[in-house]
Amino acid sequence: MNIYETDKLLSEYLLFHYGTRSEIAPPAGVEHALDYAVRCVTECVNLTTLKSGARALDLGCAVGRSTFELARHYSSAIGIDFSRRFVDAAEALRTKGVLPYSRTDEGALTTALVARRPEGIAPERVAFEVGDAMALRSDLGSFDVVLGANLIDRLSHPALLIERLPSLVRPGGQLILTSPYTWLEEFTPRDRWVGGFEREGLRVATLAGLRAVLEEDFTLIDARDLPFLIREHARKFQFSVAQASVWRRNEEAT
Ligand SMILES: C[S@@+](CC[C@H](N)C(=O)[O-])C[C@H]1O[C@@H](n2cnc3c(N)ncnc32)[C@H](O)[C@@H]1O
Repeated sequence: MNIYETDKLLSEYLLFHYGTRSEIAPPAGVEHALDYAVRCVTECVNLTTLKSGARALDLGCAVGRSTFELARHYSSAIGIDFSRRFVDAAEALRTKGVLPYSRTDEGALTTALVARRPEGIAPERVAFEVGDAMALRSDLGSFDVVLGANLIDRLSHPALLIERLPSLVRPGGQLILTSPYTWLEEFTPRDRWVGGFEREGLRVATLAGLRAVLEEDFTLIDARDLPFLIREHARKFQFSVAQASVWRRNEEAT
């Protein structure tokens, strides 16, 4: 069973993406880790040089919050995820604006909540679809920004996405990859990890692994910490610190 098709993960991600501070009720000291799906856009994407008609792609969009945030600034934003349930939830928010769900508090105790599409976003600028980031449809076109948030360490073969990136990002466009680099063999066979291993006695960090495979086509602009908090129940939270790497697609040689 794909965990991203389960009731548990659907409600955790709706709360993660759309929950208010009082609905999440974080323990003291970790409030800065809220609103991750928004901060992936506001803290990582350079929004100062957008051309009219600019296109955005959110790969592994889950229940869609970053896709909506991209659509605040870009003429169109496509969110693609492998989970049918996540995409159906994102699409329900796009079309209806609201989606009831259940937050787990303790054991079988739950609270009924409603996720709401963020204010000020034109739903017609947004599209969600089910798709595989390792085998994207060939007619997707190219984008001014591609976001892959907490995705690469959940792919069975990250190189298949990485190889496609130069054709997905327009020359001069941006690529944002965020991840806590939680490499696990249940998701990615060890010989396909981008980093987090030793090779010939040398430690290979994931950022170094990304540089090795991306630098022919992209320039690393920034790498920064991006904390995030996922509530499982009232007394259990996952606090993680993703690294966000920000890349610019090199202009093609003339
Ligand atoms: C850790 S979650 C991150 C979701 C979201 N970007 C965020 O930061 O909250 C990983 C997401 O990647 C999706 N995913 C996993 N494998 C995928 C694939 N091959 N293609 C597209 N999405 C995939 C999962 O369904 C899930 O929504």
